[in-house]
Amino acid sequence: MADQAEKLRELVSGRQGRGGAEAKRSTRIIAVSSGKGGVGKTNISINLALAYAQLGRRVIVMDADLGLANVNVVLGVIPRYNLYHLIRKQKTLPEILVDTSYGIQIIAGASGFSKIANLTDQERGDFIGELAALSNADIIIIDCAAGVSSNVISFVAAADDALIVTTPEPTAITDAYGIIKIIATEVENLDIGLKLIVNRVHSVVEGRRVAERVINIAGQFLNLKVDYLGFVYEDPVVHTSVVRQKPFLILEPKSKAAMCIRHLVGRLENMDYRDGRGIPVFLKKLFGAKG
Ligand SMILES: Nc1ncnc2c1ncn2[C@@H]1O[C@H](COP(=O)(O)OP(=O)(O)O)[C@@H](O)[C@H]1O
Ligand SMILES: [Mg+2]
Repeated sequence: MADQAEKLRELVSGRQGRGGAEAKRSTRIIAVSSGKGGVGKTNISINLALAYAQLGRRVIVMDADLGLANVNVVLGVIPRYNLYHLIRKQKTLPEILVDTSYGIQIIAGASGFSKIANLTDQERGDFIGELAALSNADIIIIDCAAGVSSNVISFVAAADDALIVTTPEPTAITDAYGIIKIIATEVENLDIGLKLIVNRVHSVVEGRRVAERVINIAGQFLNLKVDYLGFVYEDPVVHTSVVRQKPFLILEPKSKAAMCIRHLVGRLENMDYRDGRGIPVFLKKLFGAKG
């Protein structure tokens, strides 16, 4: 326990101390979640990652939707190792990072990784130490599971931004509100930017209407500010890209869906992002250690 707190303190303070004067931005950690499954989280995570990579950023996608290892499926890669091997200390972080032909790297999920809370202190401490190596990345996108498992909440709470994906379907909207409510009630001192993406819309107006519903309810009943990040059009290229195992940003860069993704990145870049959190703060929050 003491060890772990020590390690975290070192990491947290080390950022100012060690790094020297170079003005490297700290890593931006973006968690992507939803209330309902199948709303487009994985496709959005991967294509956002690619759009960032095309801007010259170093991007890692972490598949935290456990059970279904689907980031790698959409990218058409077969990882040999995953988070399980990292936690079991059979592999190091660089060894489990998977290169793709698109310039981004992924960390594959593992079903043994269902609850961060279930790790022993020793495992958790070692895991934190390994994850610190992620500081090399500019952007880390975490493709979280849908719904309210404890690990979604931990990731969302620890990230810089939480993107909540919904579709215009009433059930998806209700569940999006549901997860926002859980986040609002479970996370103390919530200081992340909660941002809504409406996927599979047929018009700009439809996206805005759906977003306003969620945002108004969250404001009214939870006193919580949720921003509308933007929408992604319903576009057959998404399905085709999944079948072809090639992200639509690459398969059809001029498609409506791809344009929407680039627009989302533009918005993310211009929205109120405060620099200066990065991996150390992420880890501290993820594991709830008292600095
Ligand atoms: N914008 C879209 N247009 C058309 N179909 C979509 C769109 N987004 C998602 N889909 C469909 O929904 C399926 C599930 O998407 P996925 O990203 O795997 O969802 P999740 O990760 O939330 O479970 C995709 O395989 C695709 O067929
Ligand atoms: Mg998914």
